[in-house]
Amino acid sequence: MRVRIFSSPVAASRALAADIARALDENPRLVLGLPTGRTPIPLYRELSALHRSGRMDVSRARTFNLDEFLGIAADDPRSYHAFMRRHLFDRVNIAAKRIHLLNGLARNVARECERYERAIARAGGIDLQILGLGANGHIGFNEPGRALVARTHRTRLSPSTRRANAGLFAGRMSDVPREALSMGMGTILRARRIVLIATGASKAGCVRRMIEGPVTPRLPASFLQLHSNTEIWLDSAAAQGLRAEG
Ligand code: GLP
Repeated sequence: MRVRIFSSPVAASRALAADIARALDENPRLVLGLPTGRTPIPLYRELSALHRSGRMDVSRARTFNLDEFLGIAADDPRSYHAFMRRHLFDRVNIAAKRIHLLNGLARNVARECERYERAIARAGGIDLQILGLGANGHIGFNEPGRALVARTHRTRLSPSTRRANAGLFAGRMSDVPREALSMGMGTILRARRIVLIATGASKAGCVRRMIEGPVTPRLPASFLQLHSNTEIWLDSAAAQGLRAEG
C-alpha cells in the first residue's frame, strides 16, 4: 500500500479531487466507486467546485456507491441516496441513469444484491474506488467479525457503527437501521485502483493497524494490503500512529 500524508483534511481532499478530475480527463467514461460518511464531504465540496469552474466533466462517467441502509427509501433525507444528492450529484453534471446505489427498500434483497453485482460487471468493473474508514475498521459496511462476505450482501450493523451514523437520524439511536446492504470485500478488491481517505486523530489507531497489522477480518480494511494498486491518503493527525512517523 502506498501512503500519502497531507497537512490537513482539506489539503488531502483538494489533491484527491484534482486526481479524480485528471482521471476523468484521461477516461471520460470512468467508473467510480463512492463512499459516504463525514470524511468525503470536503472531497465532494472540492469536486463540486471543480465542476462549477469548468474543470471537471462527469457527464459520461458512472458511479456506484458502497452501501445503503436497509428499510430506508431513496427519497428519505436520511438515506445515503439523499446524502449523495445533497453533497455531490445535485452539484455536478451527472445524469441520474449513470448513478447506481443499492435500493434499501428492495423486496427481494438477494436479487437486489445480485442486480448490483451484475450492474458493476456490465459497466466494466470499477476503475477507481474511493473509500472512507469506519472507526472500527469497516469499509463500506463490511463490519469486523470472524469472516467477511465477498459479494454485495445484507449485513448487520455493529452498535458503534450505528452510533457513528446516528447524526443522519437526528441522534435518535432507535431510528438508526440495524441492517444495511453493502458491496462485499471482493467487490471492493476487484476495483482497478483504490484510494482510502482517512482524516483526524480518532482514526489514527485504526490506520496503524490497517497498514502495519495482520490481514484479519477483525479489521476489514486490513484486506486492502492484498490489493496491488491501493493508496492510503491521510492527514497528519490520522498518520500519527504510523511507525515511520513516530
Ligand atoms: C459509514 C459508511 C462508511 C464510511 C464510514 C466512516 O459507516 N458506511 O463507508 O467509511 O461511515 O464515516 P466517517 O467518514 O464519518 O468517519
